Amino acid sequence: MRVLGIESSCDETGVAVYDSQAGLLAQALHTQVDLHAVYGGVVPELASRDHIRLLPALISQSLGEAGLAVADLDAIGYTAGPGLAGALLVGASVAEAMAMAAGIPALPVHHLEGHLLSPLLSDDPPAFPFIALLVSGGHTQLMRVSEVGCYELLGETLDDAAGEAFDKTAKILGLDYPGGPRLAALAAHGETGRFRLPRPLLHSGNLDFSFSGLKTAVLKVVSSQDWRAARRADLAADFQQAVVDVLTAKATAALVRTGMRALVVAGGVGANLALRAALDAAAARLGARTYYPAPALCTDNGVMIAFAAAQRLMRGERPRGEATIQVRPRWLLAGLSCPCPSGR
Ligand code: KG4
Ligand code: ZN
Repeated sequence: MRVLGIESSCDETGVAVYDSQAGLLAQALHTQVDLHAVYGGVVPELASRDHIRLLPALISQSLGEAGLAVADLDAIGYTAGPGLAGALLVGASVAEAMAMAAGIPALPVHHLEGHLLSPLLSDDPPAFPFIALLVSGGHTQLMRVSEVGCYELLGETLDDAAGEAFDKTAKILGLDYPGGPRLAALAAHGETGRFRLPRPLLHSGNLDFSFSGLKTAVLKVVSSQDWRAARRADLAADFQQAVVDVLTAKATAALVRTGMRALVVAGGVGANLALRAALDAAAARLGARTYYPAPALCTDNGVMIAFAAAQRLMRGERPRGEATIQVRPRWLLAGLSCPCPSGR
């Protein structure tokens, strides 16, 4: 089965062609970082326009690279949510229109399902069931994943997502967009232990998170009298350590609570090296293992969407009813219909 995948939920235009037998045939990715940098963050309308500008060319490029015509495709998968409404509509419109013209199904894909399944594309994929720690710019969730489509929410952030906390704290520290990777790079030059930052909800007894207070704690330090003398890299390192400590403790607790031995880490913050080191060590102490997507697949891309669509299509799933161009800027992953006999 050959599937074209389209990702346009935020500030990356991603396209890929995935073949369920031959694997990944082609991919193309355009990041809008330069476009939004001058504004210090993503401007939704500019994001939509840039997706419109580039999507047709990236699709042609991917099909060309794969040596395929639209008629050779079996289906088109596209991110239908969650994300920016206008940006999602671009991908949805293109996918549904192409699919209708070609007489093939178009499958709406949940963006987080794409992230969550992306480690299955690696050479050493995890086996089901596993725990997934989803850490992106908009979400921080722990899920129990029994199989493709069967996602049980174990805990999530009550306010800011981990990536959002990285981005906002980076701004407070005077770093440019995109803040997360820049803060991580700065933290690598700093030493931890100089600032006493909170570990929100560390001892809450459940698997929920809260990161907005951490950002406020950093703001308090930066607004204090003696800040000028302090090293910015040290504060970045202490902030990163606080996030890493909480994510690691809760992910470990999820493994212990469920008795599972595999932890999949997905989403942009999963690229963070300090987080990876801490999760690897914590999992090893439990006799468990961590799994990550290939580095290029940690942040948004079309490959994960093509792959997730292919997984669902191979299970016999088909779009329901008439083709409609409908996106879901807010969409619960745990609300997807579950294929298990005991499922929803
Ligand atoms: O998954 P993703 O590409 O997009 C969303 O679906 O949100 O994640 C983007 C988030 C941003 O908040 C970004 O700052 C963060 O991931 N991020 C990082 C790193 N690389 C990306 N945060 C911490 N350390 C990194 N190395
Ligand atoms: Zn994402």
